[in-house]
Amino acid sequence: MSRIKKSCAPRYARWLQSTNNITQQFLAIGGRQDFVSLAGGLPASELYPIELMREAMDRALTRWGSHALEYGPVEGFPALRDAIARRMSRMTGRRFAVGNILITTGAMQGLDLMGKVLLDPGDLVVAQFPTYLGALDAWRARQPVYEKLTWDLDRPGFDEALRRAKFAYAVPNYSNPTGVLVPTPARQLLLEKVVEAGTLLVEDDPYLPLQLDGAPGPSMLAIDSAMGEQAPYRGSVVYLGTLSKSVVPGLRVGWLVADPELVQTLAVAKQSSDISSSMLTHALALEFVDSTFEEQHAPKVVAVYRERRNALLHAAEEYLSDWFEWDVPPGGMFVWMRARDGTGAPVINTNDLYAYAVDEKVAFVPSSVFDFEGRLTTAMRVNFSRSSPEVIAEGVRRLRRAVERYLTSNSRVPPSLSRASF
Ligand SMILES: Cc1ncc(COP(=O)(O)O)c(C=O)c1O
Repeated sequence: MSRIKKSCAPRYARWLQSTNNITQQFLAIGGRQDFVSLAGGLPASELYPIELMREAMDRALTRWGSHALEYGPVEGFPALRDAIARRMSRMTGRRFAVGNILITTGAMQGLDLMGKVLLDPGDLVVAQFPTYLGALDAWRARQPVYEKLTWDLDRPGFDEALRRAKFAYAVPNYSNPTGVLVPTPARQLLLEKVVEAGTLLVEDDPYLPLQLDGAPGPSMLAIDSAMGEQAPYRGSVVYLGTLSKSVVPGLRVGWLVADPELVQTLAVAKQSSDISSSMLTHALALEFVDSTFEEQHAPKVVAVYRERRNALLHAAEEYLSDWFEWDVPPGGMFVWMRARDGTGAPVINTNDLYAYAVDEKVAFVPSSVFDFEGRLTTAMRVNFSRSSPEVIAEGVRRLRRAVERYLTSNSRVPPSLSRASF
């Protein structure tokens, strides 16, 4: 019997209509030699400890043998969980138990799992605004609705929103995209309100190691821990940590700290995603976590990033300050540039500017992708960690040419340039 092959068009799930491929676009641009990418959030790869990694892998295999090559416990490699519990205890001054710790495939998986176990369609998330694009991506399939967390915490309606929210989400240290460092009193007040509302706070803290101008305030987990008793922690904060910025992002090792019951529920959700993370990378990560590597490495990274941030600010002052303004970020990887007002309205729409920038072979991230409604079109996120000061300066010069062409073309995107969809 001959079988006629029919073409099969997948009938995709509805939530995909509200998604975008912006992250893939930026990763693709980041790999092109002719482009200056000020878009992604990538570390300086020349600082990656390749030789140490090779030696650590050797030690890990000698130490753990076949244990490192098995499927493992879904909560993570036990020795790594233990090491992270000790790290979080040192960081907060409170004893965390292994049961408080879930090792994740990057902090990103922690965001994804929180969405999986807590969000039904239409549920409310109170999210720091503008919001990390990856968090919006992680929760998109769950179809939540959002309320903005803008740190004017006493505004009418905010307490009520927290009471309705499944959780609040914040990046208090050098936020992505704005680089903002949230002051300690605002952290304390938000936490009080979260506890009062009986909801959870997801504290996403990947930029903690990137302290360019002095130390940040206490983590919200530490503030909450100070209120409670001994292990296991059963508080309102769900803390997300990662090795992506302090070691390398390619390890894909992050962790989540939470009430043990929540950790177990998240583990059930994780099991259906990946059975377990790679025990080999957990064993490798342990070699770094259980050593003084991060202590020694962080000052080198910070010195390089500080120089790059200053190079970006210097070039921006010279070439972009007629049209954009910004605050100096005290840490992290990004400068958030806001379009200046013209006669009552911002002069530049960064979604449209993006087409000119790509034509000039430079990329940034338009603000609209950090807004769950896509309406914020007056700012851009500019990265300084990835490129040398010279490349950053060249990128800023290209951006200036893009702005000039955009403005002389009457601010419209001509058909000769393709308008990206965000
Ligand atoms: C705020 C924020 N959360 C989470 C992540 C994801 O980190 P990871 O590489 O650990 O998945 C990032 C990545 O840059 C980030 O900026």
